[in-house]
Amino acid sequence: MAINWESKYCERANGIYGSMTRQLMHLIANPEVISFGGGLPASELFPVDQVKAITHDVLDQKGMAVLQYGTSEGYEPLRQAVVERYNQRGFGIGLENVLITSGAQQGIDLVSKLFVGKGDLIVVGDPTFLTALQTFNLFQADYLTVPVDAEGMQVERLPGILEARNVKFIYIMPNFQNPSGATLSLERRRQVMEIVRYYQVPVVEDDAYGELRYDGEHLPALKSMDPDGQVIYLGSFSKVLSPGIRVSALIAEKNLMEKLVFAKQAADLHTDNLAQHIIYEFMRRDWLDGHIARLIDFYRKRRDAMIQAMTTYLPAKVTWTTPKAGFFCGPRCPQASIPASFSKKRWKPRSLMCRAPATTPKAAASAACG
Ligand SMILES: Cc1ncc(COP(=O)(O)O)c(C=O)c1O
Repeated sequence: MAINWESKYCERANGIYGSMTRQLMHLIANPEVISFGGGLPASELFPVDQVKAITHDVLDQKGMAVLQYGTSEGYEPLRQAVVERYNQRGFGIGLENVLITSGAQQGIDLVSKLFVGKGDLIVVGDPTFLTALQTFNLFQADYLTVPVDAEGMQVERLPGILEARNVKFIYIMPNFQNPSGATLSLERRRQVMEIVRYYQVPVVEDDAYGELRYDGEHLPALKSMDPDGQVIYLGSFSKVLSPGIRVSALIAEKNLMEKLVFAKQAADLHTDNLAQHIIYEFMRRDWLDGHIARLIDFYRKRRDAMIQAMTTYLPAKVTWTTPKAGFFCGPRCPQASIPASFSKKRWKPRSLMCRAPATTPKAAASAACG
């Protein structure tokens, strides 16, 4: 007789469920489908030849070392390259502040493991990143939400929320928020840092899209405004190089690192060694910035075409953000009012419309699908 797995799951496993992201991945496997749904980089821009050359050289020159176990903190030259890159943005960090993770998603997971237990409160934007919610749900978080408008999270609401509550952390995407595309204004960045300093609340700053700015000047990361080390910063190479190479950098205060490293060890010992070498070599050969410049050029054109098409084809009721960067424009459509003519006439046969994934804690809970 088949085992009844339901009876064996721990309570925490109730927080695990499939998501629209998973369904989306099935849909985009179909080459007929052009997905406007997730944060997927354009595959045609992946630097396949450069990665091929690096992989060959790395295996040729240090194959035995690369195929061995590595350290949990990450490949030291890569960590050093990360230090130098972020210090150009005013982070003021050293090697001891850098943990290489298997994607920013693992950073979200490790931070949750350390801070979130059943019923613990975390603050998230409304809307927020769907897959972060999945992770927080697994750790049985409770949520306090702050609306996100054209200037990002309405941080002036934070004092009312933080007062007299033990909030574990604020999860925020200051740059080109997923899914709204909003960028936190400079004024709000200053405000949020003042507020969290006053209330002594940690911040998890997810900056997966930070380097992909198409217009205007970069704004300072919260991490660069953080002399007390309250911000845990999640960078990622997924959007600027390849999400299939699972390498990202988590930046945190030294005192937190030991526990983060132990949590990382327990999860996967260390991030894939070959992948770390590939990212490091890409930086060492000075290819990354040129590659990012090409991406920006390409994505800016795509952003403009998308906005143009939405302006032409979508009903006036639909609103969106024209993002300064990143992949998201967060179209908002009252009562799912896109007319049938939109999907049937103009875009067939390659259109598949589905409702937006649940990007608020409440919606994520009610949209849980097996
Ligand atoms: C806001 C945000 N954070 C994190 C991630 C995950 O990034 P990574 O591939 O580095 O795990 C994504 C991916 O879409 C994202 O949109």
